[in-house]
Amino acid sequence: MHWSRIAAFAAAPLAALLFAFPAAAQKDGKEKEFEPHVGQAGKDVIWVPTPDEVVERMLRMAQVGANDYVIDLGAGDGKIAIMAAKKFGARSMGIEYNPDMAKHAQHNVEKAGVTGRARIVQGDIFASDFTQASVITMYLLPALNLRLRPQILAMRPGTRVVSHSFNMDDWEPDETSSMDGRRAYFWVVPANVAGTWAFEATGGGAAERSELTLEQRFQKLEGSIGLGQVQGGLRDTRLRGFTIAFSYVDGNSVRRDLTGRVSGNRMEGSFRADNGTEGRWTATRK
Ligand SMILES: C[S@@+](CC[C@H](N)C(=O)[O-])C[C@H]1O[C@@H](n2cnc3c(N)ncnc32)[C@H](O)[C@@H]1O
Repeated sequence: MHWSRIAAFAAAPLAALLFAFPAAAQKDGKEKEFEPHVGQAGKDVIWVPTPDEVVERMLRMAQVGANDYVIDLGAGDGKIAIMAAKKFGARSMGIEYNPDMAKHAQHNVEKAGVTGRARIVQGDIFASDFTQASVITMYLLPALNLRLRPQILAMRPGTRVVSHSFNMDDWEPDETSSMDGRRAYFWVVPANVAGTWAFEATGGGAAERSELTLEQRFQKLEGSIGLGQVQGGLRDTRLRGFTIAFSYVDGNSVRRDLTGRVSGNRMEGSFRADNGTEGRWTATRK
């Protein structure tokens, strides 16, 4: 069932939901196995599973592999955590608030034969530590994505984030994929580079010291570099996780293309100039 059709569930009175979807019930003295129902109440959002082909695309967008630790926020029946482990060889965890659903999802992990690589924990995503993840997946709601955004942006630069259906307001995605009218959005958590940096370039026969100023809006960068009296604007800026790239034309009309890595208050890398020279550069936060 599509999300828009199921959205009506969100407005249903709690009593009606309890009536429609009783948790594990007693029948003939035996514990009846919990049967999940699309639209059942969750803490902040109801359960609607992401279709398999969307789950697969989400994990491909994030280029999930054996070195990854994938955490699905609001795990439902565990299908994202299970596919991450089974098809992509990752370690994974799903955090699910509904205790019956969490138990059911953990049972699905066992049935899928990925115990040891995948697990489901019962918990509230707003009270859980998910900072160890290299990949975060979500199918929540726009307001919930926004509530999680500060925590996600504080994660290790390079952490990949994928969301089914809902984006993150003015943090524009790095990729949007669509299939069958459904969308999946992808972001890479950018390093924090905004500010003023002491810049030094060596190579090409000359040592050069200057000041680099960077303005950042999520992964988008603008900036300038001091060239004597001139503030030379940066071109072709790019910030992807902890990798940075930008170009500028120096005081001798030479264009330099720089790439580097950000590590806290230091950046370093190499450059290539269009006069054939090559060199190294460093920048230290002022
Ligand atoms: C739309 S479903 C998505 C399920 C799964 N991620 C998928 O894509 O198939 C959202 C899930 O989040 C759970 N949930 C809602 N609020 C939660 C919270 N605060 N903490 C953890 N799970 C929550 C719901 O019970 C539901 O199973």
